[in-house]
Amino acid sequence: MKLALVTGGAGAVGAAAARMLAEDGFRVVLADRALERTQAICDEICRNGGEAVAEPVDLLEEGASQRLIDSVAERFGRLDCLVNNAGMTGAPRIDSVELSVWNAVLALNLTVPMLLAQAAQPLMKQSGGGSIVNVASRVYLAGTGVAYTSSKSGLIGLTRVLAVQLGPDNIRVNAVAPSFLNTPFNDKIVKENTGLAASFRKMSPLGRLGTAEDVAGAIAFLASPRANFITGDVIHVCGGTQLAPQPASAGADDASHNQTESEEHLIAS
Ligand SMILES: NC(=O)c1ccc[n+]([C@@H]2O[C@H](COP(=O)([O-])OP(=O)(O)OC[C@H]3O[C@@H](n4cnc5c(N)ncnc54)[C@H](O)[C@@H]3O)[C@@H](O)[C@H]2O)c1
Repeated sequence: MKLALVTGGAGAVGAAAARMLAEDGFRVVLADRALERTQAICDEICRNGGEAVAEPVDLLEEGASQRLIDSVAERFGRLDCLVNNAGMTGAPRIDSVELSVWNAVLALNLTVPMLLAQAAQPLMKQSGGGSIVNVASRVYLAGTGVAYTSSKSGLIGLTRVLAVQLGPDNIRVNAVAPSFLNTPFNDKIVKENTGLAASFRKMSPLGRLGTAEDVAGAIAFLASPRANFITGDVIHVCGGTQLAPQPASAGADDASHNQTESEEHLIAS
């Protein structure tokens, strides 16, 4: 049975990905520091006929990434999919960045995925290859949050480098870049900026916010044989919010006839 390791497996996206990977026939290991929630999700997956195991871990502890992969190797002897999903925000503005917060965000969002990929390579290679999926963010195209955007932009770069360097071991490496999701991850920011969710909904041609399941679908696809020739890529799970802002008339049939000079400029820029 193929094995998938999902970090942040007790969170909204991690749990949704674990459920979907289990449905697709993976045994899933959920690695998270929130032990009770992780165990509850594992129990739910098992009740529904899947196989899931909790690995309590604080990924920011020294040596945690290597210990986690060692534990997977010892317990299951293989690794076919690694989902680097655990993440955090902090240090949003350059005028008030606290170095300790910057370091923690960069460590969890960028350094840990690198260390996990490094530790996982021999086990994945021994398993005949596999798929690494890094959960980045649409912010790499924007500029919101000094530490968060820097870390997620770095994660896209890491995705590309790993795709090149691990490809010969038949290890594919891709990223998903979700936009704003309606998950507890955003509770604080939503409290501080009540219009944020509505403005993301408006930005999407699909007119809604993304869900954890939307992101999980892209992760499960990239982990599956259906994506066998896809590596080094980024799937935007953004409902179109990765596109440049459109003028109000862009959806109309006769939009091209009605464009003003400034609208033409907007489309071109
Ligand atoms: N929610 C969004 O709007 C959004 C948008 C784009 C990208 N993302 C990315 O998606 C990923 C998951 O987001 P989510 O919305 O499910 O968040 P979430 O807060 O629901 O889940 C994050 C999980 O990571 C775990 N975690 C945090 N620090 C950890 C540590 N040091 N060691 C072990 N586990 C730790 C938490 O316990 C939690 O279960 C993150 O990487 C996030 O950056 C989220």
